[in-house]
Amino acid sequence: MTWSRLTTTAGAPVADNQNSLSAGPRGPLLLQDWRLLEKLAHQNRERIPERVVHAKGWGAHGQFTVTHDISAYTCASLFSGVGKTTPLIARFSTVAGELGAADAERDVRGFALKFYTDEGNWDLVGNNTPVFFVRDPLKFPDFIRTQKRHPRTNLRSATAMWDFWSLTPESLHQVTILMSDRGLPQTPMHMNGYGSHTYRFWNAADECSWVKFHFKTRQGHKHFTNEEASYIVGQSRETYQEALFGAIEAGAFPRWTLFIQIMSEAQARACAFNPFDVTKVWPHADFPLIEVGEMELNRNADNYFAEIEQAAFSPSNFVPGIGASPDKMLQARIFSYADAHRYRLGTHYESLPVNRPRSPVRVYHKDGAMNFVGQQTGVVDAYYEPNSFGGPAESPEFREPPMPIEGDAAHWDQRGDDDYYSQPRALFALFDEGERARLFSNIAAAMAGVPTEIVERQLAHFDSVDPAYGSGVRAALKRD
Ligand code: NDP
Ligand code: HEM
Repeated sequence: MTWSRLTTTAGAPVADNQNSLSAGPRGPLLLQDWRLLEKLAHQNRERIPERVVHAKGWGAHGQFTVTHDISAYTCASLFSGVGKTTPLIARFSTVAGELGAADAERDVRGFALKFYTDEGNWDLVGNNTPVFFVRDPLKFPDFIRTQKRHPRTNLRSATAMWDFWSLTPESLHQVTILMSDRGLPQTPMHMNGYGSHTYRFWNAADECSWVKFHFKTRQGHKHFTNEEASYIVGQSRETYQEALFGAIEAGAFPRWTLFIQIMSEAQARACAFNPFDVTKVWPHADFPLIEVGEMELNRNADNYFAEIEQAAFSPSNFVPGIGASPDKMLQARIFSYADAHRYRLGTHYESLPVNRPRSPVRVYHKDGAMNFVGQQTGVVDAYYEPNSFGGPAESPEFREPPMPIEGDAAHWDQRGDDDYYSQPRALFALFDEGERARLFSNIAAAMAGVPTEIVERQLAHFDSVDPAYGSGVRAALKRD
């Protein structure tokens, strides 16, 4: 066996990595043992802040292949031509649990994708649900607080969750999905992914439309009941990592089919509901799924920390042909993620190998903590813009077509649209008897210990969806 030489971080050979430098065989140690100091100091800095949400995650590398031409809707290079492939990285996650949380817990799953396109990185940071709990970003930190630990008990609080949800009826759609079978997938491979928000497409002729993204699992949907999950968690807390990593190691590459829904600008103006409200889906009957391509995950990370933990996904990573819609939640996320990354990973997080675009990067940003990339304009004297030294310059041909905006600036009541019930009703109508029974008992279990007035407020919402929903939960509460 050949050994390569062990060194310090400064490259000096390490003569002894088993024994500290001590005065005599029994010590004490000498402060001048710079190799020991370096080793301990490095260990103290091994942890970085975990993600404030979606801390526990599992991911892999893969690729996206276009199978159907959608150039009528978008000029995005990654969709340009059947057969085109684009490398990507995916990270799945639970929302509320910390880094050490068990995988098989009932929660929404994150479904974050970074496509390394030839015109920069496009990140689609979605979930395994097509909707979300709130529709104004001002409510996001409060919502997350109800999912995390109580300040005094340091325990998660069912009271906080149902208090918030019952006072926030726009959450009902997502709460119903969370408490249904799909709220506890068996593995990340057995669930769909959704962009959730409405995004904007424009094509080569600058014609614009609104779009939603759906990744449908090719492995089929598989879920655990609460009882199964508690047994599984007793056996292993890492079932998602084991399943995803194991499948890819074994060559059983998971796949998803990407579909889009398209809404024209005229249809959006005439839409009965707000098409930019992330608590609503677009009914398939009105906006049919259009097949686009296939995503396959086929390579595990060689280093989990470098490639999955340091992956930094952001809804602000757009590429020409794909843009933001007026969705208020999406607008806030465009700020929030890059801000989180600068805090969690540092100013130059985009230069880390997993985040670095595969297309050239030419920026005038300068210096900063931990700058290991130097100047990124490619021309020494071009460190400001405009300049006379041939530095990188803007490309007007990539300009997004103007987006018409109207209305007075005000703190518009996001409750303006108060139809909280018809889409959850359409979902409830899809459930068979078994699914309904599990929905009722999952909700009853999740309500254990919640004060009656909060339970009653929530039951009234279930009644408004369908009397059978409310009465089913009532009966399950009596049984528990
Ligand atoms: P459709 O019957 O055309 O679509 C139903 C959708 O619901 C399909 O995407 C299906 O996904 C999904 N679905 C099926 N069974 C379940 C389940 N048990 N739990 C969660 N999702 C399920 O109806 P509509 O488009 O009119 O939507 C009706 C309701 O379906 C909506 O109110 C929404 O709650 C839910 N839904 C709608 C989606 C949409 O984009 N329109 C997307 C996902 C859910 P799959 O094909 O993977 O089984
Ligand atoms: C992670 C903020 C809504 C999906 C995060 C992170 C923040 C955040 C700060 C941690 C980022 C990091 O440290 O890497 C917000 C805000 C929201 C919002 C402010 C609303 C205004 C949503 C919605 C979705 C979503 C609607 C899905 C449609 C995700 C996912 C991750 C994440 C998947 C994990 C990404 C990864 O794997 O690294 N969010 N979020 N979030 N969020 Fe959100």
